[in-house]
Amino acid sequence: MKILGIETSCDETGLALLEASGGLNPPTGGPKFKILKNFVASQIKIHRPFGGVVPNLAKREHLKNLPILFRKLGGEKTLKGVKLLTVTVGPGLEPALWTGINFAKELAKKLKIPLVGANHLEGHLFSFLLPSRSSTAYDSRLLKKNIFPAIALIVSGGHTLILNVESFSKWKKIGETRDDAAGEAFDKVARMLKLTYPGGPEIEKLAALGNSFAVTFPRPMLDQKNYDFSFSGLKTSVLYYLRDNPQTIKADIAAGFEQAAIDVLVAKTRRAAEETGAESIILSGGVAANKHLRKALKRTAGIIGTQFLVPDFKYNLDNAAMIAVAGYMAYLRKKKYRLTANGNLNI
Ligand code: KG4
Ligand code: ZN
Repeated sequence: MKILGIETSCDETGLALLEASGGLNPPTGGPKFKILKNFVASQIKIHRPFGGVVPNLAKREHLKNLPILFRKLGGEKTLKGVKLLTVTVGPGLEPALWTGINFAKELAKKLKIPLVGANHLEGHLFSFLLPSRSSTAYDSRLLKKNIFPAIALIVSGGHTLILNVESFSKWKKIGETRDDAAGEAFDKVARMLKLTYPGGPEIEKLAALGNSFAVTFPRPMLDQKNYDFSFSGLKTSVLYYLRDNPQTIKADIAAGFEQAAIDVLVAKTRRAAEETGAESIILSGGVAANKHLRKALKRTAGIIGTQFLVPDFKYNLDNAAMIAVAGYMAYLRKKKYRLTANGNLNI
């Protein structure tokens, strides 16, 4: 089945055309995807001077970029044979979400193609299903093995959560951040270090030049017997450390902060995987692009004998291919999200 996915929840406009097949039940027939086209127009340069995403600017840019990407995709004639349209309905910035929803509604009406809403977080969760050459991505051979129960860590600019995933249609949130998301902490610490937005990749680059043992930052909630996180205190301790030790090498601060954040993410995910007897650990979201985090979680999965599943780098950041996947999965399980923007949509 050919699917068009549309993503406008934050600062990336995305359109993707996928071929989807298979059902919800491995090993008899898990879902399979082939990417036909995948375009992302990033607004990073527009928001960079403001140090973060400005909702109304995001809306303006989505309105400008959607028709451009649609033409690039091949226009209406490309939609011949498309059986399903899917668009992100939340969570995200509501003015931004509406641009995609309205665009999708118009297309659906004009071309008489069914439209389903997609949950952005389910997009991240299932992004490991997108085809990839990497050994840690999902491939059809895994259909023969159990991947469930799985523990999924979703780490993005707006969310940090742990899910206990029983199947392709059943999961439960078992932990989340009580304050800032991990990506948000990376962005805020980057700002303190006078790095540009988005801060995650900048911190990663700077940290690679530093010594992660030079400064030890706290590992909030590490010893608490739950799967929740807190990153606001860690961010504040970086702020105070910088104020009191202005001479410290910035790369050491970046490395110390990155290590502290990764340590808690990995430790909580490991405990969740051990305590639930998980067959796999699934990592996704923008922060999953961090090589140190990927490596640390992969090593941990190896130690406890679980599979490690992570999408290719290009699918960690927001994109419409993962939205087409989420839309297909929602369609398979007959989940009907309301076609209105819901900034706080849960998973
Ligand atoms: O998933 P995403 O594209 O958007 C949301 O849904 O929020 O995630 C963006 C977040 C930003 O906070 C960005 O700083 C962070 O992901 N990020 C990273 C890296 N690349 C992006 N954080 C740490 N290391 C990275 N390499
Ligand atoms: Zn995202």
